[in-house]
Amino acid sequence: MTRRDFINSTSASYAGLLAWGQLLPAPASALNLPANGQRGEGPARRVVILGAGLAGMATAYELGKLGYDCTILEARARAGGRVWTIRGGTGETELGGDAQTCRFDEGNYFNGGAARIPHHHQLTLQYCRELDVPLQIFNGNNEAAYLYNDQPGGTGELANRRLRIKEYHNDMRGYTAELLTKALDQSALDQQLTKEDIEKLVDFLKNEGDLNTAHLYKGTNRRGYKPKAEPGAGVSPGALTDPFGLTDLLRSGFTQPVFYNVGDYIYEQQTTLLQPVGGMDAIPKALAKKLGSKIIFNAPVSELRKTDNGVRVVYQQDGKPTELMAEFCVCTLPLPMLKNLESDLSGTVKRAADFVPYIKTGKIGLQFKRRFWEEDDWIYGGISRTNMDINQIWYPSFGFQGQKGVLIGYYNFYGRAEAVGAMTVTEREKLALTQGVKIHPQYPAEFENSFSLAWHRIPYSGGGWATYDDNTRKKYYPALMEPDGNIYFAGEHTTYLTAWMAGAFTSARRAVESIHARVGEYTQK
Ligand code: ALA
Repeated sequence: MTRRDFINSTSASYAGLLAWGQLLPAPASALNLPANGQRGEGPARRVVILGAGLAGMATAYELGKLGYDCTILEARARAGGRVWTIRGGTGETELGGDAQTCRFDEGNYFNGGAARIPHHHQLTLQYCRELDVPLQIFNGNNEAAYLYNDQPGGTGELANRRLRIKEYHNDMRGYTAELLTKALDQSALDQQLTKEDIEKLVDFLKNEGDLNTAHLYKGTNRRGYKPKAEPGAGVSPGALTDPFGLTDLLRSGFTQPVFYNVGDYIYEQQTTLLQPVGGMDAIPKALAKKLGSKIIFNAPVSELRKTDNGVRVVYQQDGKPTELMAEFCVCTLPLPMLKNLESDLSGTVKRAADFVPYIKTGKIGLQFKRRFWEEDDWIYGGISRTNMDINQIWYPSFGFQGQKGVLIGYYNFYGRAEAVGAMTVTEREKLALTQGVKIHPQYPAEFENSFSLAWHRIPYSGGGWATYDDNTRKKYYPALMEPDGNIYFAGEHTTYLTAWMAGAFTSARRAVESIHARVGEYTQK
């Protein structure tokens, strides 16, 4: 067997391939910059990094490769920041909230923050490769999941009931294809297209909408079969379902943005998405392991000062203020945290901290004693969508066919997340169950326990992610691009990849490159 045959035929994991010597690991020095110590300027430069999230840890990791002496100050007892996997034993007390301890069974978990990696986030994937974090598919797009338009007292035929996404999509594709072929048949587009062009387009639309020979949409097996009437052995060809009516679809609220075909259309959510095996926190755990004692935990920063030749940071350690001096600082604190920090940062940075909004967002994990979504509804991963406060239900993309499972019972944003986040954890659970039961009647019989979080109330995060618009990008973003004296900024909020781990990683590399270039300039003088 040739090496290529082996790689093409094997189903071995990436780590397995590495172990077999069939794949080369990613280059150790990803940035390919000359090392600090090789510049001959004496002892390694000291860098203090605020925050052991992905940005802070990747900064320390890359600077470490270049010979810098880094210390990370982390307020929490754990690394990872908003990359956080909730499992049995996880505890958290939100600002103004009650203490929660997760009671999920062994092996059950949900990713409370970052939860999916787009296939084009190659930097994130490269770090997974380099850190030996095995990946599996995250199924974000599942045509078997449901849409539910809740319209109490409403009249739409298809409102207040669940539809399979495949039923909705294929009906809408069919009808729009049919209408377009009609327009083409009437030579409506003659001016732009030749007769042959039109024939080809009609062919495309016939396939796109699964139209019949008369170019009419009369339903399709793409939308599935009737219950207990799938194709089978002998004389069972399967009983097709009837399509919904076009006007029923249009008048039942399914043109609202929440029901758009995000899984196919949005760049960040297109197939293939990935996730680490065992939880997203495998990434921060692997980085933290590389960094060892360079991370000081339980060390919230209370002051950030500029000095003549660097920075002075005050942090709390065992309740006592402690000082750390360094030549450079890389500050990865989320802006809501920077806002409250005593510092002599410039006015422009302080204004960015004050005025760049962070999204309010929340999730709840619901443990069920039976994976009814798989057993009864044939849903393996993916997302159901609704206009109710719960907004989305996520089905786990791991542990298929097991006994118990954890659903993400809501994932919501802005006003809905604010309203739900303001509730007690008991009220949040009740809301997730009373709304979710409309989509899954199995909820009451199977529910066991929950763990919820509202990122805007989580200490040391204070929000989901930075949300810029054209105005805030122009007004505040530039202040975070440049060092303020010897203080550099990194984190998803300093990128155009806000809300993604790839943003944190790319910002770290930018900070490392800037610092290293500056050190290079000093030493050339
Ligand atoms: N990147 C975040 C998500 O995947 C916003 O939901």
